[in-house]
Formats: sequence, C-alpha cells, structure tokens
Amino acid sequence: MPAYVIVGAQWGDEGKGKIIDYLSEKAHVVARYSGGNNAGHTVINEKGEFRLHLVPAGIFWPHTTCLIGNGVVVDAEVLWKEMEELRAKDVDVSRLQISDKAHLIMPYHIALDKLEEQARGNKALGTTSRGVGPAYVDKAGRSGIRLGDILDHPSLLPRLQHVLEQKNFLITRLYNAEPFSLEELYERCIQWGERLSPYIHAVENTARRALAENKVILLEGAQGSLLDLDHGTYPYVTSSSPTAGGACTGLGLSPMAIAGIFGVYKAYTTRVGAGPFPTELSDSVGEAIRQKAWEYGATTGRARRCGWFDAVAARYSATVNGLTSALLTRLDVLDGIDPVKVCVAYRLNGKTITEFPSSAAVLEKCQPVYEQTPGWKGSTANVTSLDDIPEGALRYVKRLEELIGCRIDVISTGPRRPETVCIRSPIP
Ligand code: IMP
Repeated sequence: MPAYVIVGAQWGDEGKGKIIDYLSEKAHVVARYSGGNNAGHTVINEKGEFRLHLVPAGIFWPHTTCLIGNGVVVDAEVLWKEMEELRAKDVDVSRLQISDKAHLIMPYHIALDKLEEQARGNKALGTTSRGVGPAYVDKAGRSGIRLGDILDHPSLLPRLQHVLEQKNFLITRLYNAEPFSLEELYERCIQWGERLSPYIHAVENTARRALAENKVILLEGAQGSLLDLDHGTYPYVTSSSPTAGGACTGLGLSPMAIAGIFGVYKAYTTRVGAGPFPTELSDSVGEAIRQKAWEYGATTGRARRCGWFDAVAARYSATVNGLTSALLTRLDVLDGIDPVKVCVAYRLNGKTITEFPSSAAVLEKCQPVYEQTPGWKGSTANVTSLDDIPEGALRYVKRLEELIGCRIDVISTGPRRPETVCIRSPIP
C-alpha cells in the first residue's frame, strides 16, 4: 500500500502529463488505467518535449515500473511508434508492461469512428477519430481482441474471422465503404504480437505485488471527469471511465488500496469537441487565452474552446471523484487578464442552481453566474515558492479552493518539473 489516483477534473487537457511526471518521483509504479491514444500527455524535460499517448508519464524516472492497465484500449501501431521515439531519445522502455487483458484498437475501429461521426452530421461528437469509442463498444459487446489474444495464434484466426465478418458487413452495407482483408489484419496482429510480446503481462499482479511490498503506485487518469461515460456530459463524452472509480477496474485493484485521489484543474476551462460548455468565451478574452496558452490539442491539433473557471462543474467533479487533493495548473495564463471571472452558479429557467445537471440538454440551457475579481499585478510564471505568488493570484487560488471544496496542494507555474509550487505534498 498505498495507491494514489490522478484524475483530470474538467474536460481533459488539464496538464496531467506534467503533474504525473512531477509526482512520479515518489512512485515505484505508474499505471494508465483508461482511455487510449485519444489522450496526449505532454512532458518537457532535459531529454526533450514528449507527447505521450499511451505510455505512462512516469516513464522518465529510471526507478519506475510503468503499466498499461486492462482498462486502456491500445493501438499497437501507435504504442510501438511511441516506444521507438522514447528509445531514440534514450528513455528506457524496458520498464513498460502492457496488460494482456487490454483491448486492441483495430484498423476497423478507426474506420468506424470516422464513418459514425460522418453519419452523425451536425450532431457529431467531435471525437479524436482514433477508434476509441468503437473499441470500447466491442469490449462491452464481447467482440474485442485483447493483447493476450495476439499471442495465441491458433485461436486468433477464427475469432478475427468472426468479428471481421460483422464489421465488414457494417462497413460495406451501412456505410458503403471499403472492407478490411482478414489475411492482412491477421498478419498485422502476428507482427504486433512479435514486437510486443516481451511487454505483455498480467500487469495486475505486478501492481498487487508492489502494494504488498508497500510501494507507491500512481494511477494515471486520461481525459477528464466531465468526459466520463457515466458521469460526464453524455453523449458528449468519451467511451471510458476517467473518474477515480475507473482506476480500480482499469487496473484490477481493490478500492481499499486507494489512499488518495488527486484532481488536476486548469486555472480556467477548456473543452475540445462538441458539447455544452457554459463558461465558454467566444470573444477576444477566449482567443487571448487560447493564444497565450497555445490551447491546441496535443493529439489532433484542434483549437480548444476556452472559458472561465467553472466552479459548479469543478465542485461536481471533486464530489464524483472524492478528491483528497486538488492541483492547479496554468495559473500564469491568467496573469495580466483583468478582470478574472469565476462561474459560481448557473441560471436555469429563472432560478439559480449550484448543482451540475445530469443532462447535457439541460446544461446547454444554463447561463453562468459570475463572480468577478480584479486581475493581479505581477507574474506567476515559473514561480517556485508560495511567497512569490502575487497577492491577487493567491486570493484567486484560495477562492477556487473554497468553491471546489478541496485543498489545492500544488500549483503548477510552467511546463517543466521545477516550475511548481508545492504547498503540501499530496503523497506523504
Ligand atoms: P473520443 O474519446 O475520441 O471518442 O472523443 C470523445 C470526446 O472526448 C470528444 O469531444 C473528444 O474531443 C474528447 N476527448 C477525448 N480524449 C480527450 C483528451 O485527451 N482531452 C480532451 N478531450 C478529449
């Protein structure tokens, strides 16, 4: 014992990569538990700038074992490329283990993701087109191919044949698109198996052994809590469970192993893709935030929608996850912006509400109620001590803390590890 979970507490892109890398100093094991290569975790260090889509962001510390849990869906091509890029920059990936229970994103999943989005027309979700949704559909539908399956050649072929017949039927008859060849897919699976076999393990055993030896495990969430399949703004969500509950099923750990849950919040809000976003700024302030923070997707390059901090959503997320600690990123982006606004409630049908609605259609109708504070003088960029944070910025942080209902223990003031103010270490 113990294990700690790190979740994105908004709509993703909160800066989890930097935070996970920072906290991994104290971890023996770092494990991704959900999502796929729809995620893009940015880490900048002496070896370069990395955008990790599948490999846990703890990989840069030589003492860590990094796991990809059963809850993750894996595009084997993307994973292999990422591993090669890391190797080329002298990062040791021999410490990586991938769950034999993790499901593969197959080429037909990527095709279906795109075809389904096209078919949705103006109701498109704005997915990352990485095949993540269709791969989870097959997992739940018991038609998925797992990493372990590509090591077992005799049973793989008939299984793939059966699944592909159904997929090709859908692809050709419903969408009028090109079918996939069984032989080609089978060959690809064999190649993936050959490359990845040294890394494929029953990773839950590695995790459980680490706990038994009293080692620290960090469970790395991807996406954000408001994109959670159950608790997010359905249907404008991803197809996995980024919230803390997903961490236990996504790695095969008992909830009793979890000693703390850390939520990463950005000092403002962003969202990629479609769906309600009450505090969205479609004006020059939103554009200024986008440009200053370079709010463009690490995976797709899409411009992120930007807006003020939404404390109603933030408090909801703290509650859903049972946060024990909040970590705030990108405070420096608000330096020089005056005034700074925070959404403290919504107006809905003439009433003021402070509960986050469970329906996206209702959230769409909510108007933000703002509290306004003057901007602060001075800069928070690259600051490493609480004493050097301007008073106004500190007041903003304290107010967010009250509104979220959870202590803010860490403030990130830049993309590099040292650019961090640690008020209280979330990991004792
Ligand atoms: P999917 O996960 O590709 O199916 O996309 C579903 C929704 O989740 C879309 O709105 C995506 O933009 C969003 N999404 C998926 N992954 C991320 C992420 O890592 N950061 C932010 N948004 C994401």
